[in-house]
This record gives sequence, C-alpha cells and structure tokens, in this order.
Amino acid sequence: MHASLYDEIQGETGDAAHELVYDPVINEVIGSVTGRRILDAGCGNGCWARRLAGRASTVIGVDASAELIKLARAKVNPTNVRYEVQNLTDKLPFQDGSFDLILSSMVLHYVPSLTTMVAEFDRLLASEGEVVICVQHPMYQYHHRALATAGKLSPVFRYTVGYFDHLPLKQVTLSGKIEVPTYNRTLEDYVQIFVNGDFVLTALREPQFTEELVEVMPRYRALMEVPRVIILRFSKMKH
Ligand SMILES: C[S@@+](CC[C@H](N)C(=O)[O-])C[C@H]1O[C@@H](n2cnc3c(N)ncnc32)[C@H](O)[C@@H]1O
Repeated sequence: MHASLYDEIQGETGDAAHELVYDPVINEVIGSVTGRRILDAGCGNGCWARRLAGRASTVIGVDASAELIKLARAKVNPTNVRYEVQNLTDKLPFQDGSFDLILSSMVLHYVPSLTTMVAEFDRLLASEGEVVICVQHPMYQYHHRALATAGKLSPVFRYTVGYFDHLPLKQVTLSGKIEVPTYNRTLEDYVQIFVNGDFVLTALREPQFTEELVEVMPRYRALMEVPRVIILRFSKMKH
C-alpha cells in the first residue's frame, strides 16, 4: 500500500522539488554516464534507473522493498535495466569491480547503518569509480528542531533531536500520510565514513529552493532558508 502510494506520488519525475531543484544538480554531479555500469542503490520505483539507462551500459536497481521492486519491474524498462530486492545493510550479490558509478538518491537517511554499505560500494566499484549521493541535509532536521524549540513544532518531525544526536527519528512523508524511521547523522558522519575508507570527496552541493519552485509549491517558501538536501560525490582512489 505504501509502495503504490509512493509510486503514485513519485511517478517518473518526483515532485517539483526533485524536478526543479535536486535532480538537475544530481545530473550535473553525475556528469556523463555514457558506457558506464551503474548501480542505483535504493532505486524505489526505478525512475533514476530508467532515466540513466539510455546512455549507460547497464543499470541495476536494488531496493529493500519487494513491493517497489515489483512495481519497478512492471514499468516499461529499457533492456539494459534490471532490478533486485537487496538491503543496503547487507553484502550485495555482485562481483568486485562490476560498477563504474553508484547513485543513491534520497536513501541513506533511512538506512540504520552505513558501515557494510560503504565497504560494499568500495568492493563493487572499479578503480576510479564514483559514488553520487543525494541525502536529506543534516541541517534540515535541525531546522525543525529549532522551530520546535521556538514553540512552532512542524508537522514533518513531531519528534526532533539535536544536530549531534545519533538517534532515530520519525519523519512524516508521502504528503503527510506515513511516518518512517529516519537516522540522524551529521555532515561529518556522511563525509568521514567514505573518506576513512577508500574514497575522496570530489563534489559537495547544497541546492536551494527557488522562487520558481515556490510558485508551484508555495508551502516550500519557509524552506528557502535551509538546505533540504546535500549532494556528495566520492571517487574511489587509484591503486
Ligand atoms: C525516498 S525513496 C527514493 C527512491 C529513489 N532513489 C528515488 O530517488 O526516487 C527511498 C528508497 O530507499 C529504500 N530503502 C530504504 N532503506 C533501504 C535499505 N536499507 N536498503 C535498500 N533500500 C532502502 C526505500 O525502500 C525507498 O525505495
């Protein structure tokens, strides 16, 4: 039921914030995908996998939700795309060095531990392969914390924690219809777990909500002063 609601809201493009603000920057950070073997980690209904497939060599989408993988498979997919149910907290059933690019869009803040995932990304990437991550900005939750402290509790996080608190939260999503566990991490957490591994940080972007977006989605005006997402690119070091 959540999967079909998610698919209905996400569609092929996501909402206007995705279409106008996050996804153009994600595409810029990804750069050329021509001939690349791509893993879409937390692929949801497969919208990114399908978008990238035209130019890529192959795209494999993995997601923990069997329902979403079923929905992704039922779409009209290019022949070089396939989907598998896999949890990013587990080892993944792919060979060493079998990808050139791993994209993970709006997933990592839902994953309770990133340790196995980062080690697996390192193993799965060929030399000089890249990881592009778009994740909820660590300051976004804290913005809601500040609102709550000022007595203006937001409907998005009814329970908030401090910036440095590593505690799960409940975040309201899917147009306010469900609450999902969300794992609070600092910016340092997201960067250092890769940098302490085999990666170097090669891009960091904080797209800001624009007037163009607010015209379409007026409720986002209040969020023009806070970064909603952060986009990071890490490159696997040469050996
Ligand atoms: C907000 S959706 C984003 C989907 C897609 N990447 C996109 O940009 O449209 C988050 C996705 O992460 C998946 N997910 C959450 N935790 C996961 C985990 N531990 N392993 C794999 N997928 C996970 C969810 O099932 C969901 O499809």
